[in-house]
Amino acid sequence: MRKAKVAIFISGSGTNMAALLYASLLDNAAYEVVLVASNKADAAGLDIAEAEGIATFVHSHMGHSREEHDAAMEAALVDAGTEYLVLAGYMRILSDEFVRRWEGRILNIHPSLLPKYKGLDTNRRAIDAGDSHGGASVHIVTPELDAGEVLAQAKVAIRTGETPASLAERVKFAEHQLYPRAVSDYVSRGYDAGYLYQRVQELALALPETHARESHGSPGFRVGTEKSGKFFAHFNDQHHGSEHIAVLVKTSGIDELMGLVETQPEVYFKPAYYGASGWVGLILNRPGVDWEHVSEWLERSWRSVAPARLTKLMNVADQF
Ligand code: GRF
Repeated sequence: MRKAKVAIFISGSGTNMAALLYASLLDNAAYEVVLVASNKADAAGLDIAEAEGIATFVHSHMGHSREEHDAAMEAALVDAGTEYLVLAGYMRILSDEFVRRWEGRILNIHPSLLPKYKGLDTNRRAIDAGDSHGGASVHIVTPELDAGEVLAQAKVAIRTGETPASLAERVKFAEHQLYPRAVSDYVSRGYDAGYLYQRVQELALALPETHARESHGSPGFRVGTEKSGKFFAHFNDQHHGSEHIAVLVKTSGIDELMGLVETQPEVYFKPAYYGASGWVGLILNRPGVDWEHVSEWLERSWRSVAPARLTKLMNVADQF
């Protein structure tokens, strides 16, 4: 089984890091931990990682600008071959540029049921508000603090007489169950045909006058009427012995297709049968798929076969 390469950033005790690490050592884990890095040399989790033979890296943020510190941390990530960065009690805010470069590939765990209680002192705030539950959320990191898409949550009941410390302790237990599972699901979904199809379907059906239609046993998308529509995309799940999960879209012809395949073989391939007529395979089961790029290809392919009455409308819309 392919394992995604995960780096973990910590600043403190690193109990979530330990939970993530030991989950990664179980049979059939979806990820492996390739690096544990910290901005604090005395972070207790570093010892745990070292004892398990995991590479560690320390770079103090003291005396460095945010950008300098992030650059050092990023160099360590790249050296370790990191695909996903998982923050586990990392007490530094990452620079916007860093977050943009790793967009969609950084996860964080936050001790509240987001969108409630972003920032600090979450357990006290939940108790003071009289909430029935506190808990933890795993979310995608975006430049805005604790505001990215929430992927998974665990609820923890608030008891009478609860203190922030007693609640925090149980929230940690819940976090240790939640985080490894959420990370596994997230890193696997990019290789899951069902998830990839759903993403393609959303983009394809957002284009005007489109519908899904099977062709030679594979799902595809057409533009135009149900009766006389034309295919602008085919979805291939490891078809004809290929290892790729891909969406096939139309290029201008064989020359463009071969150029793409030669210059970016990690992104494009020439599919069986369809390749001969200029359809290129856009590989989806790989790290760092740019869904904007997939969307642009779908639109271009759509335009190349859509009836003039629809492309005209699209051209008009483009001017605004
Ligand atoms: C956790 O409560 C987590 O929600 C927050 O920081 C804490 C980290 O704890 N982001 P630990 O270092 O994993 O024990």
